[in-house]
Amino acid sequence: MFGDINVVKFWIIVLSLLLFSAVAKAKIVGIPCASCHTMHYSQNGTILQEWGSSGPYKALVINDCIGCHTGTNNGSNTTPYIFSSSAPNYGETGTEAGTNTLAGGNFYWVVNGSSWVTDADRTGHNVEGLANVDQTLGTTPPGGTDLGHQLTCAGKYGCHGDRNIEGDFEALLGAHHADDSVIDGSTVGKSYRFLKGIVGYEDSDWEYQPDAFHHNQYKGVDRASETDINTSTISYLCAECHGDFHNGDDVSFGSWGSPWLRHPTDYDMSHTPSGSEYRQYPGQYGSTGQYSVIAPVASEDVSQPKSTVSFSKDTIVTCISCHRAHGTPYKYILRWNYYGWPVQTSVNGCNACHTAKD
Ligand code: HEC
Ligand code: HEC
Ligand code: HEC
Ligand code: HEC
Ligand code: HEC
Repeated sequence: MFGDINVVKFWIIVLSLLLFSAVAKAKIVGIPCASCHTMHYSQNGTILQEWGSSGPYKALVINDCIGCHTGTNNGSNTTPYIFSSSAPNYGETGTEAGTNTLAGGNFYWVVNGSSWVTDADRTGHNVEGLANVDQTLGTTPPGGTDLGHQLTCAGKYGCHGDRNIEGDFEALLGAHHADDSVIDGSTVGKSYRFLKGIVGYEDSDWEYQPDAFHHNQYKGVDRASETDINTSTISYLCAECHGDFHNGDDVSFGSWGSPWLRHPTDYDMSHTPSGSEYRQYPGQYGSTGQYSVIAPVASEDVSQPKSTVSFSKDTIVTCISCHRAHGTPYKYILRWNYYGWPVQTSVNGCNACHTAKD
């Protein structure tokens, strides 16, 4: 009798493996619908403990975006967790052994505060449903115009999904089930991390303890001028709200180059003199020419992660060379303890590129 059950189990495993390989990189296959959906938001006359308590939710899911994406990453979780209810281990840069945050960081600190920063608001994007409205910035992104509404995960007031559509689920509908074996930015599902229009290479575990060989490969472009805009880069995503810091308002003075007025992004380090400090990237954080997850650089070609760089359209400075998108324990969502160096930390990612300034 138990033998029969084992045979059945065997075939279920074989069939689901086949299913997985047939649709190689397609999203969510072979997982029971019921682990994510509820048809009536009711079972045995009540709701299940594993469901969110403020439903029913749109698209008949069992929780909202934050609910499903709350947890502790351990390297084998199949849902990326971007909010943890107990303090995550960020280490110094969110990349070392023992850390358990992902590429975007974690919203823990903007909700609970951090030992490094007195004002919790500074440590992350104040997303609705998680954090209060930013007491200093309100709903206005520095370098941009007031959104008139608190930040949301997705849609018109958020980063993910279609930013022309209002509502987290409305803006994302279908994305979780979309085949994303090709990331071309044409739909939400086929965009880098459901950021509509943005492209890039997606690391399979969302940069859980990344290294030079295992990481996202961010899209950047080697721009010719401040107004030269490519809408598929990760810096352009940020610029959709923080535009002045990327294009259009005094990034460079006259020509596109040093001396700068604001830190350049979507600018390739190939434009620096061959003997300059930049050519030693990543300085003390790796051997020369190695990709650094401490201060990542973007590239025009994002077909695969690069372990080394050649200073030719693959050493592009991006907003997230210095910041993370969700949150970090540090001021202004910086990747490392910029304000703590050199007294409280020896790690200052600025030195990955400014190698002669350490
Ligand atoms: C791992 C979680 C997960 C599983 C398993 C899952 N879904 Fe979904 N599904 C979602 C989420 C999240 C959404 C809403 C956001 C979106 O559409 O991206 C969704 C949206 C949908 C939608 C509306 C959008 C669309 O694509 O038309 C349908 C229909 C749907 N799911 C059906 C199913 C069915 C049927 C199954 C089982 C065969 C299933 N889902 C399994 C997470 C899941
Ligand atoms: C029912 C649970 C559930 C809900 C609700 C849900 N997600 Fe997800 N989400 C998942 C799972 C599971 C994955 C991993 C699936 C995968 O990447 O194959 C995922 C993956 C993602 C990813 C990463 C995609 C990638 O390219 O790796 C993003 C971004 C995301 N979700 C955003 C959202 C947003 C925004 C919402 C709210 C509109 C939302 N999710 C609602 C379960 C959920
Ligand atoms: C949908 C609009 C939007 C997008 C896209 C966006 N931001 Fe923001 N950002 C805001 C708003 C609004 C604030 C101010 C309120 C807050 O911090 O929540 C802000 C604040 C910030 C701050 C200051 C944090 C603080 O509180 O002092 C940084 C740093 C930042 N954003 C970086 C980024 C980066 C990097 C990206 C791209 C990965 C990005 N933002 C994308 C809207 C956006
Ligand atoms: C990913 C590489 C990278 C990182 C990380 C980085 N920079 Fe830069 N930085 C550059 C490049 C490239 C330039 C432009 C150099 C040029 O055009 O000659 C630049 C320009 C500058 C300039 C203006 C120089 C000028 O000639 O006008 C300053 C100041 C500066 N960076 C400071 C910093 C600080 C402080 C940090 C850390 C918060 C930092 N940078 C992090 C690559 C980087
Ligand atoms: C070279 C590292 C670096 C890069 C690249 C970078 N930032 Fe920053 N950012 C910083 C630092 C450091 C601060 C702290 C304030 C300062 O030094 O001006 C900061 C502050 C901010 C703030 C808060 C400003 C305020 O008024 O409180 C926002 C918003 C921001 N950055 C967004 C961006 C966006 C968007 C991009 C890309 C277009 C970007 N940053 C690129 C290092 C960087």
